[in-house]
Amino acid sequence: MQRRPLIAGNWKMHLTQKEAVALAQSVAESSNACLDRDVMIAPSFTSLAAVCAAVQGARVLVGAQNIAWEKEGAFTGEISAPMLNDLGVAMAIIGHSERRHIFGEDNAMINRRLHGALQGRILPILCIGETLAEREAAKTLSVLEAQVRHGLAGVSGERMHQVVVAYEPVWAIGTGRTATKEQAQEAHAFVRQLLGEIFEKNIAMAVRILYGGSVKPDNIDDLMAQPDIDGALVGGAALKAESFDRIVRFQ
Ligand code: 13P
Repeated sequence: MQRRPLIAGNWKMHLTQKEAVALAQSVAESSNACLDRDVMIAPSFTSLAAVCAAVQGARVLVGAQNIAWEKEGAFTGEISAPMLNDLGVAMAIIGHSERRHIFGEDNAMINRRLHGALQGRILPILCIGETLAEREAAKTLSVLEAQVRHGLAGVSGERMHQVVVAYEPVWAIGTGRTATKEQAQEAHAFVRQLLGEIFEKNIAMAVRILYGGSVKPDNIDDLMAQPDIDGALVGGAALKAESFDRIVRFQ
Protein backbone atom coordinates (compact mmCIF):
# COMPACT_ATOMS: atom_id res chain seq x y z
CA MET A 1 0.00 0.00 0.00
CA GLN A 2 1.36 3.36 -1.04
CA ARG A 3 1.10 5.87 1.80
CA ARG A 4 1.68 9.52 1.01
CA PRO A 5 4.67 10.76 3.03
CA LEU A 6 4.09 13.56 5.52
CA ILE A 7 6.92 15.75 6.78
CA ALA A 8 5.79 17.82 9.77
CA GLY A 9 7.60 20.57 11.63
CA ASN A 10 6.76 21.15 15.28
CA TRP A 11 8.02 24.61 16.14
CA LYS A 12 7.21 24.20 19.85
CA MET A 13 7.61 27.43 21.89
CA HIS A 14 9.86 29.18 19.39
CA LEU A 15 9.72 32.17 16.98
CA THR A 16 7.96 35.50 16.96
CA GLN A 17 5.22 36.12 14.39
CA LYS A 18 7.65 37.80 12.04
CA GLU A 19 10.17 34.96 12.26
CA ALA A 20 7.40 32.39 11.89
CA VAL A 21 6.03 34.01 8.73
CA ALA A 22 9.48 34.16 7.14
CA LEU A 23 10.14 30.50 7.90
CA ALA A 24 6.66 29.49 6.70
CA GLN A 25 7.24 31.23 3.38
CA SER A 26 10.45 29.34 2.93
CA VAL A 27 8.79 26.02 3.82
CA ALA A 28 6.04 26.76 1.30
CA GLU A 29 8.67 27.06 -1.42
CA SER A 30 10.22 23.73 -0.43
CA SER A 31 6.83 22.09 -0.33
CA ASN A 32 5.70 23.48 -3.68
CA ALA A 33 8.74 21.79 -5.21
CA CYS A 34 7.83 18.32 -3.87
CA LEU A 35 4.41 17.32 -5.17
CA ASP A 36 4.51 13.70 -4.03
CA ARG A 37 4.49 14.42 -0.30
CA ASP A 38 2.59 16.47 2.27
CA VAL A 39 4.25 19.10 4.44
CA MET A 40 2.86 20.48 7.68
CA ILE A 41 4.13 23.16 10.05
CA ALA A 42 2.90 23.74 13.59
CA PRO A 43 3.73 27.26 14.84
CA SER A 44 2.89 28.49 18.31
CA PHE A 45 -0.71 29.64 18.80
CA THR A 46 0.32 33.29 18.63
CA SER A 47 1.69 32.85 15.10
CA LEU A 48 -1.04 30.61 13.69
CA ALA A 49 -3.15 33.36 12.12
CA ALA A 50 -0.19 35.10 10.50
CA VAL A 51 1.27 31.83 9.21
CA CYS A 52 -2.08 30.65 7.80
CA ALA A 53 -2.41 33.96 5.94
CA ALA A 54 1.19 33.79 4.69
CA VAL A 55 0.87 30.29 3.17
CA GLN A 56 -2.62 30.61 1.78
CA GLY A 57 -2.71 28.93 -1.65
CA ALA A 58 0.61 27.16 -1.08
CA ARG A 59 0.95 23.40 -0.68
CA VAL A 60 1.62 23.47 3.02
CA LEU A 61 -0.68 22.44 5.83
CA VAL A 62 -0.76 24.36 9.07
CA GLY A 63 -1.15 22.55 12.36
CA ALA A 64 -1.79 23.50 15.98
CA GLN A 65 0.35 22.12 18.79
CA ASN A 66 -2.68 21.07 20.83
CA ILE A 67 -6.48 21.28 20.76
CA ALA A 68 -9.31 21.42 23.29
CA TRP A 69 -12.07 18.79 23.42
CA GLU A 70 -14.86 21.29 23.90
CA LYS A 71 -15.97 23.78 21.28
CA GLU A 72 -16.17 26.71 23.68
CA GLY A 73 -16.62 27.53 27.33
CA ALA A 74 -14.77 28.20 30.56
CA PHE A 75 -11.48 26.50 29.65
CA THR A 76 -8.80 29.10 30.34
CA GLY A 77 -5.73 28.68 28.18
CA GLU A 78 -7.32 26.27 25.69
CA ILE A 79 -7.97 26.62 21.94
CA SER A 80 -10.86 24.80 20.24
CA ALA A 81 -11.44 23.23 16.84
CA PRO A 82 -13.83 25.97 15.64
CA MET A 83 -11.20 28.59 16.52
CA LEU A 84 -8.64 26.66 14.49
CA ASN A 85 -11.08 26.14 11.59
CA ASP A 86 -11.63 29.87 11.56
CA LEU A 87 -7.93 30.40 10.75
CA GLY A 88 -7.59 27.62 8.17
CA VAL A 89 -5.68 25.24 10.45
CA ALA A 90 -5.89 21.66 9.14
CA MET A 91 -4.19 19.49 11.75
CA ALA A 92 -3.36 19.30 15.45
CA ILE A 93 -0.56 17.55 17.34
CA ILE A 94 -2.04 15.67 20.29
CA GLY A 95 -0.32 13.92 23.18
CA HIS A 96 3.15 15.23 22.48
CA SER A 97 5.61 13.90 25.05
CA GLU A 98 6.13 17.42 26.39
CA ARG A 99 2.40 17.69 27.03
CA ARG A 100 2.40 14.28 28.68
CA HIS A 101 5.53 14.65 30.79
CA ILE A 102 5.81 18.38 31.57
CA PHE A 103 2.11 19.23 31.72
CA GLY A 104 0.72 15.93 32.98
CA GLU A 105 -1.66 15.10 30.13
CA ASP A 106 -2.72 11.48 30.41
CA ASN A 107 -4.13 9.01 27.89
CA ALA A 108 -7.72 9.82 28.90
CA MET A 109 -7.26 13.55 28.28
CA ILE A 110 -5.41 12.88 25.06
CA ASN A 111 -8.28 10.69 23.87
CA ARG A 112 -10.76 13.49 24.59
CA ARG A 113 -8.61 15.93 22.63
CA LEU A 114 -8.43 13.50 19.72
CA HIS A 115 -12.22 13.24 19.59
CA GLY A 116 -12.47 17.03 19.82
CA ALA A 117 -10.24 17.29 16.77
CA LEU A 118 -12.10 14.66 14.73
CA GLN A 119 -15.48 16.15 15.54
CA GLY A 120 -14.17 19.57 14.63
CA ARG A 121 -12.72 18.55 11.25
CA ILE A 122 -9.11 18.91 12.39
CA LEU A 123 -6.84 15.98 11.50
CA PRO A 124 -5.09 14.70 14.63
CA ILE A 125 -1.48 13.56 14.91
CA LEU A 126 -1.47 11.26 17.93
CA CYS A 127 2.00 11.18 19.51
CA ILE A 128 3.18 8.15 21.42
CA GLY A 129 6.57 7.09 22.77
CA GLU A 130 8.37 5.48 25.66
CA THR A 131 10.79 7.07 28.12
CA LEU A 132 14.35 5.85 28.50
CA ALA A 133 13.50 4.12 31.79
CA GLU A 134 10.61 2.31 30.09
CA ARG A 135 12.83 1.20 27.21
CA GLU A 136 15.52 -0.02 29.57
CA ALA A 137 12.91 -1.95 31.54
CA ALA A 138 11.78 -3.63 28.26
CA LYS A 139 8.39 -1.93 28.52
CA THR A 140 8.50 -0.10 25.18
CA LEU A 141 5.88 -2.18 23.39
CA SER A 142 3.48 -2.33 26.33
CA VAL A 143 3.70 1.47 26.79
CA LEU A 144 3.06 2.02 23.08
CA GLU A 145 0.15 -0.42 23.16
CA ALA A 146 -1.51 1.39 26.07
CA GLN A 147 -0.98 4.80 24.44
CA VAL A 148 -2.46 3.59 21.16
CA ARG A 149 -5.41 1.70 22.68
CA HIS A 150 -6.39 4.47 25.11
CA GLY A 151 -5.53 7.30 22.76
CA LEU A 152 -7.74 5.88 20.01
CA ALA A 153 -10.56 4.54 22.22
CA GLY A 154 -13.95 5.12 20.60
CA VAL A 155 -12.54 6.03 17.17
CA SER A 156 -14.37 4.27 14.32
CA GLY A 157 -12.54 2.56 11.49
CA GLU A 158 -13.93 5.14 9.11
CA ARG A 159 -12.61 8.03 11.20
CA MET A 160 -9.24 6.32 11.59
CA HIS A 161 -8.43 7.26 8.00
CA GLN A 162 -8.08 10.84 9.23
CA VAL A 163 -5.66 10.03 12.06
CA VAL A 164 -1.86 10.18 11.82
CA VAL A 165 0.25 8.48 14.49
CA ALA A 166 3.71 9.77 15.45
CA TYR A 167 6.17 7.53 17.26
CA GLU A 168 8.51 9.78 19.26
CA PRO A 169 10.70 7.97 21.78
CA VAL A 170 11.07 10.47 24.63
CA TRP A 171 14.80 9.76 24.96
CA ALA A 172 15.37 10.82 21.35
CA ILE A 173 13.58 14.18 21.56
CA GLY A 174 15.92 17.14 21.53
CA THR A 175 18.83 14.96 22.61
CA GLY A 176 20.58 14.42 19.27
CA ARG A 177 20.21 10.71 20.01
CA THR A 178 18.01 9.38 17.19
CA ALA A 179 16.49 5.95 17.42
CA THR A 180 18.34 3.68 15.01
CA LYS A 181 16.40 2.92 11.88
CA GLU A 182 15.95 -0.63 13.19
CA GLN A 183 14.56 0.56 16.54
CA ALA A 184 12.19 2.95 14.78
CA GLN A 185 11.06 0.35 12.24
CA GLU A 186 10.43 -2.20 15.00
CA ALA A 187 8.18 0.24 16.89
CA HIS A 188 6.36 1.32 13.72
CA ALA A 189 5.73 -2.26 12.61
CA PHE A 190 4.41 -3.06 16.09
CA VAL A 191 2.04 -0.09 16.03
CA ARG A 192 0.78 -0.99 12.56
CA GLN A 193 0.13 -4.57 13.60
CA LEU A 194 -1.71 -3.33 16.68
CA LEU A 195 -3.84 -1.00 14.53
CA GLY A 196 -4.69 -4.04 12.43
CA GLU A 197 -5.95 -5.81 15.56
CA ILE A 198 -7.95 -2.81 16.80
CA PHE A 199 -9.37 -1.84 13.39
CA GLU A 200 -8.89 -3.81 10.16
CA LYS A 201 -5.73 -4.69 8.34
CA ASN A 202 -6.54 -2.46 5.37
CA ILE A 203 -7.10 0.49 7.73
CA ALA A 204 -3.80 -0.21 9.50
CA MET A 205 -2.04 -0.35 6.16
CA ALA A 206 -3.39 3.08 5.22
CA VAL A 207 -2.52 4.92 8.46
CA ARG A 208 0.55 7.12 8.26
CA ILE A 209 3.02 6.59 11.09
CA LEU A 210 5.63 9.33 11.49
CA TYR A 211 8.91 9.05 13.35
CA GLY A 212 10.07 11.90 15.58
CA GLY A 213 13.13 12.45 17.77
CA SER A 214 16.30 14.16 16.53
CA VAL A 215 15.39 13.86 12.86
CA LYS A 216 18.07 15.70 10.89
CA PRO A 217 19.13 16.15 7.25
CA ASP A 218 21.72 13.40 7.70
CA ASN A 219 19.37 10.70 9.01
CA ILE A 220 16.09 11.39 7.22
CA ASP A 221 16.89 9.33 4.12
CA ASP A 222 17.71 6.19 6.12
CA LEU A 223 14.61 6.59 8.26
CA MET A 224 12.32 7.13 5.28
CA ALA A 225 13.70 4.00 3.62
CA GLN A 226 12.09 1.85 6.34
CA PRO A 227 8.89 0.16 5.19
CA ASP A 228 6.68 1.39 8.06
CA ILE A 229 8.05 4.93 8.41
CA ASP A 230 5.77 7.25 6.47
CA GLY A 231 7.14 10.60 7.47
CA ALA A 232 8.74 12.62 10.22
CA LEU A 233 7.74 14.94 13.03
CA VAL A 234 10.68 17.30 13.33
CA GLY A 235 11.52 19.66 16.20
CA GLY A 236 14.87 21.46 16.25
CA ALA A 237 15.74 20.88 12.61
CA ALA A 238 12.37 22.33 11.55
CA LEU A 239 13.36 25.75 12.89
CA LYS A 240 15.99 26.35 10.20
CA ALA A 241 14.79 26.79 6.61
CA GLU A 242 17.80 25.03 5.16
CA SER A 243 17.71 21.91 7.30
CA PHE A 244 13.94 21.53 7.04
CA ASP A 245 14.17 21.96 3.26
CA ARG A 246 16.61 19.05 3.09
CA ILE A 247 14.30 16.93 5.26
CA VAL A 248 11.30 17.76 3.05
CA ARG A 249 13.38 16.70 0.03
CA PHE A 250 14.28 13.31 1.54
CA GLN A 251 15.22 10.73 -1.07
P1 13P B 1 13.57 17.16 17.99
O1 13P B 1 13.52 16.94 16.50
O2 13P B 1 14.11 18.49 18.38
O3 13P B 1 14.25 16.01 18.67
O4 13P B 1 12.05 17.16 18.51
C1 13P B 1 11.21 16.16 18.10
C2 13P B 1 9.81 16.48 18.49
O5 13P B 1 9.49 16.53 19.66
C3 13P B 1 8.85 16.78 17.43
O6 13P B 1 7.55 16.82 17.92
